Amino acid sequence: MMKICCIGAGYVGGPTMAVIALKCPNIEVTVVDISSQRINAWNSEHLPIYEPGLDEVVKKCRGKNLFFSNDVEKHVSEADIVFVSVNTPTKTHGLGAGKAADLTYWESAARMIADVSKSDKIVVEKSTVPVKTAEAIERILTHNSKGINFTILSNPEFLAEGTAIQDLYNPDRVLIGGRETPEGQKAIKTLKDVYANWVPVERIICTNLWSAELSKLAANAFLAQRISSVNAMSALCEATGADVSQVSHSIGTDSRIGPKFLSASVGFGGSCFQKDILNLVYICECNGLPEVANYWKQVIKVNDYQKTRFVNRVVSSMFNTVSAKKIAVLGFAFKKDTGDTRETPAIDVCKGLLGDRARLCIYDPQVTEDQITKDLSMRKFDKDHPAHLQPPSPTSIKQVSVVWDAYEAVKDAHGVCILTEWDEFRKLDYKKVYDSMQKPAFLFDGRNVVDVGMLRKIGFIVYSIGKPLDPWLKDMPAVVA
Ligand code: NAI
Repeated sequence: MMKICCIGAGYVGGPTMAVIALKCPNIEVTVVDISSQRINAWNSEHLPIYEPGLDEVVKKCRGKNLFFSNDVEKHVSEADIVFVSVNTPTKTHGLGAGKAADLTYWESAARMIADVSKSDKIVVEKSTVPVKTAEAIERILTHNSKGINFTILSNPEFLAEGTAIQDLYNPDRVLIGGRETPEGQKAIKTLKDVYANWVPVERIICTNLWSAELSKLAANAFLAQRISSVNAMSALCEATGADVSQVSHSIGTDSRIGPKFLSASVGFGGSCFQKDILNLVYICECNGLPEVANYWKQVIKVNDYQKTRFVNRVVSSMFNTVSAKKIAVLGFAFKKDTGDTRETPAIDVCKGLLGDRARLCIYDPQVTEDQITKDLSMRKFDKDHPAHLQPPSPTSIKQVSVVWDAYEAVKDAHGVCILTEWDEFRKLDYKKVYDSMQKPAFLFDGRNVVDVGMLRKIGFIVYSIGKPLDPWLKDMPAVVA
């Protein structure tokens, strides 16, 4: 029986391996991690991550051909294929700080693979890594190999959190990069055969190593660029009276542009977009391409601008101060259907409001108080390191409370900010919300989920990104110096 081991039981390693186990009953799949807390959770009734459909897949396979273990070395040494899906956060110090990928976790995983292996292995890069990482990893593996052959493949993951299981069942494509040598091609075929158990072969794209590595960075850069493009348009819509939803719909019907990923919002988040673009920028700079680097940097700048703009809209419309005012924050995760808060725009928006001394009452159906407190007290970039390396639960922040009900959050609030597009925020009883708030009641929709006309009829003063402005907001500056 073929054995697969995946190092890193996170948002990628867990769901990806669960689906491989489900679709390939003849393969034994073990996911290992240095965090015993994470492994214990994978072996319990409460999985460490929330992802629609994941519980069912894990329940079907766990204990049969899917295992979660802390015994990293044993399972790596027994595996035929080792996937590496560890964190690759942005470096916080030293050369390339704030831009380059921190490959500490990758390197230590590679050294461990070399140390414990007793048989030939295919080592698969699942983490998103800078171009040419495979070469560095190959060197680590071969220099410590004791005669064992390691063949390295790049197999970047394109799943999106919130729809990970569907994306894995039915991927647009699977990308496998390998060396153009007989060993490289043989390894590509072995991995292709695994995916071919459920993915149509024409959707399995095989390339060289560097194309595969760069394609992942390029895909994330293009996706984030689309969001920044529509967000830049949203600012212009507000200034001109155009409606960003109408503009998005109109341009999205052009088959060359397409309708997806054109929703204006308070900004993109998630662990990948910013980190991968920064990484791309760094690679461009290292290769003497400052113009290309600056082009991509702008995608992040517009994202930061959008968050600042949102905070400034809130503060300026509420008489230029939110000091001591209760603001209800609905949604903290970086998007709906996930509990992941890494790089969520809610962090910057909340910090901006706290900077103006607001009192925040936060509700998100999937994010705990502990996580929110950590996020609001941690430094930028620290959040993408493994949980066991993060500071223990911080003490609560005086101006922030976290509740488990939207109506509780909005009670006596002066303003409501919607920061995640959870479906339940579309269906709230807004008359009830209005009645329980201070007046004038402000609502700032960072995700365009509410019916602006209906809310204005109820009596709210509404700001919705990229929509024609409420008369109240018309003369207020969008960006305060
Ligand atoms: P994660 O933080 O959820 O999981 C990584 C896991 O690796 C952690 O549980 C950590 O404890 C473990 N780990 C770190 N070093 C280890 C070592 N030496 N030995 C054993 N375990 C170790 O991260 P996530 O989100 O799963 O991302 C992993 C990689 O996949 C990153 O490179 C990311 O850029 C990429 N990726 C993430 C996507 C996402 O939606 N989250 C989508 C596509 C790619």
